[in-house]
Amino acid sequence: MIVTAPRIRVERHLGPAQLTRALHDDVTAGLTASPKTLPPKWFYDERGSQLFEEITRLPEYYPTRTERAMLLDVAPAVALRTGADTLVEIGSGTSEKTRLLLAALSAEGTLRRFVPFDVDEATLLAAGQAVAAEHPGIEVTAVVGDFEHHVPLLPRTGRRLLVFLGSTIGNLEPPARAAFLRAVAGSLATGDAFLLGTDLVKDVGRLQAAYDDAAGVTAAFNRNVLEVINRSLDADFEAQAFDHVAYWDAQREWIEMRLRSTRAQTVELRELGLEVAFAAGEDLRTEVSAKFRAERLAVELADAGLRLLQWWTDPAGDFGLSLSTPA
Ligand code: AVJ
Repeated sequence: MIVTAPRIRVERHLGPAQLTRALHDDVTAGLTASPKTLPPKWFYDERGSQLFEEITRLPEYYPTRTERAMLLDVAPAVALRTGADTLVEIGSGTSEKTRLLLAALSAEGTLRRFVPFDVDEATLLAAGQAVAAEHPGIEVTAVVGDFEHHVPLLPRTGRRLLVFLGSTIGNLEPPARAAFLRAVAGSLATGDAFLLGTDLVKDVGRLQAAYDDAAGVTAAFNRNVLEVINRSLDADFEAQAFDHVAYWDAQREWIEMRLRSTRAQTVELRELGLEVAFAAGEDLRTEVSAKFRAERLAVELADAGLRLLQWWTDPAGDFGLSLSTPA
């Protein structure tokens, strides 16, 4: 038997040079700010992506398995309601849960095209190949880009279903979130739809456990960002000199991941010509993961110019999926 690799088209909005510059800018700005911060997008090198996959299988980390179970349930209704021929996945990663939507659109007989969109080309190609093999005959166009900048450049052909799963939208703070939702609304044509996964506010103990698991996988994931910086910017972070912290901000209703310096220390980032001093106990904020309430999300969608068609939660009310169209 001859097996040929299915052909995948790639559109690049972000090359290696731009990625490097963005990392330089983010790290310089974040480590010279007070309090110190880093954006979560830099977690996902090969090891970081592996650790995240491990997180999704942890007993404490409910979002992935809850959203998957919900998609298994609602995918046929989404396919029927949207009649989409093109599935565009924002922040696609491995596209694992998206297979359920692709299968439903295929069963409905409308599926023609899959457009995974993420920053890492290797991940896009792997996911795109897997989907192309599962659905021979569909067109796969992988888009390399940053969802905070390149949503307006996504292919506009066909009747599109844009999906943004996993509650990755929770990584954006309210102003960036509003800008992102406006960009999505602005890119939707009449007949297009937007499926969004959002983790919901719940018992604080469960939230904290989901971001500070007993096996220490999330701690390793958090510290890995320091290894990414060491390798990319010739820096000398000592990852073990930082404690993993998962903090629930009750006002803003988000989890913050932080790395807390266990002692006074200085870090050198040679590529940036930068020295950064940490006091003992000083925090570096590495991620916000916002949790949502149905009523507030409905307002945010409306403010962005989106009309909510349908809202689902799992029986426990842990996770929400919303389907919207342009208002
Ligand atoms: C991929 C952003 C949805 O916020 O839950 C998991 C990342 N961070 N554990 C999340 C994450 C710590 C995850 N998102």
